[in-house]
Amino acid sequence: MARNQFASKFGTMAAIAGSAVGLGNIWKFPYVAGQNGGAAFLIIYIVISLLISVPVMLSEFVIGRRGQGNTYRSFINSSGKKAWGTVGAIEIFAGMVILAFYCVVAGWSLEYIIQSIGHGFGGMTYEQMSVTFDDFVNGNRPVLWTLIFLAMNCVILAFGVSKGIERCSKFMIPALFCILLLLAIVSCWQDGWKEGAAFLLKPNWKAVTGQTIIMALGQSFFSLSLGMSAMTTYGSYIQKDQSLVSVSMIVTGATVLMAVLAGLAIFPSVFTYGVEVTSGPNLVFKTLPPLFATLPGGRIVSVLFFILLFFAAITSSFSLLEAGAAYISEEWKVAGKPVTRVWALVILFFTVGALSVICAMSQVSGSTLTILGWSVFDFTDMFTSNFILPLGGIAACVLVGWLMERNVVFNELTSDGQFSAKVSGFFFWLARYVCPIIILFMFINGVRSIERPKAAPAEEIAPVVAPVQSTSVLDVAADEMEVVFDPNRMIEVQGENAAE
Ligand code: TRP
Repeated sequence: MARNQFASKFGTMAAIAGSAVGLGNIWKFPYVAGQNGGAAFLIIYIVISLLISVPVMLSEFVIGRRGQGNTYRSFINSSGKKAWGTVGAIEIFAGMVILAFYCVVAGWSLEYIIQSIGHGFGGMTYEQMSVTFDDFVNGNRPVLWTLIFLAMNCVILAFGVSKGIERCSKFMIPALFCILLLLAIVSCWQDGWKEGAAFLLKPNWKAVTGQTIIMALGQSFFSLSLGMSAMTTYGSYIQKDQSLVSVSMIVTGATVLMAVLAGLAIFPSVFTYGVEVTSGPNLVFKTLPPLFATLPGGRIVSVLFFILLFFAAITSSFSLLEAGAAYISEEWKVAGKPVTRVWALVILFFTVGALSVICAMSQVSGSTLTILGWSVFDFTDMFTSNFILPLGGIAACVLVGWLMERNVVFNELTSDGQFSAKVSGFFFWLARYVCPIIILFMFINGVRSIERPKAAPAEEIAPVVAPVQSTSVLDVAADEMEVVFDPNRMIEVQGENAAE
């Protein structure tokens, strides 16, 4: 049976951009950019994306398209060695774990679509919004929404790669873009429009330090869904005559553009009302809804915003779930027969669903579901972001840059000579020499910055909340959730002498 493929060039790009444009672009990127030099950060971000992330993405595409299998099989086929399958398997596993907590957060956006249709959030204060959100997270509904979200994913994927994923992404990604554009335009009506735009776009080179560059790299890497089996799996569905180089450049450009538009949609309101600039769930579920209500067409703006979040989340989760579904349906056998795609999805619904429910329940304040002092939710985020993703990225570069035959790689990169060998050669060189070293540096830096949450009694600690961790995909681990979490379970940096 012929393997699945994306059917059209536009559909391929929509699906891949869908994986990349996720919650991170909307609730984290604009904030990080604003805090770290505005346009100066943007320029650094774009350069780093081109020099590091694009070559890694290309390497993953090459492995997938050459390997013609799920991530596990593609790593084996491309390297010719069984041992490389382990890398693929770890990436798939990490992807399923990320998916579990992605579903939780995506579920929240479904609740908020309904709430904004129902009563809107006009006139509510931040405190009221906090209480509403905390009550919601502490209740049972998040578990229900999480499972509904996962079920939607499974149903769409059951239609197949091109009829399910591609068809939905072809609709959702342009819709997401239009909503962002509309919200950015409507935001011009806010008095603080200039300040908001300046926060994001005014270059401030003084804010740029070595740490900024590492942060840009972390953000770009994770924003483009690298190191986690998603791009390798999607790479295996790209048609032979499509240029991998153009796909990766266009997707990267589109992802940056969407993130900037998200900032232009969000910050004018934040500055108009002089509320604290934040990121993550606090920003989207507490700060923004009442502010949006003040815009022309307030309630519709709010509804559109949560639909946007939902589209961003579901198109990203497709790529994760697909990595798992492809793996199970291509590798597992029951009674000598391959597991069908639908059964693979059923299996994933129950396993990932169980993990999601644990993640959702670990959010409830006072929950005892912890790993090494972290809530399960924070732990999975921290572990995958800091360990699996960079190592997965390095593995892809080493395999493509050093172990695969050079002409095989070039045939993929140039689609058998159809596209520029020069440009491909440049990216190959980057993947071979530059990326592994830089990502290794990022990895060491990320691991060193991990702080274990201490379970000491609150009064003994003088907590200084950590600045947003550069490497967290979802950015929920740092200072975002303190209202929900027991303070002892937050990731905190305790001032060196604070405990004494
Ligand atoms: N890119 C997604 C975002 O910006 C998050 C993400 C990271 C992701 N790695 C992934 C999504 C792998 C899907 C697959 O929010």
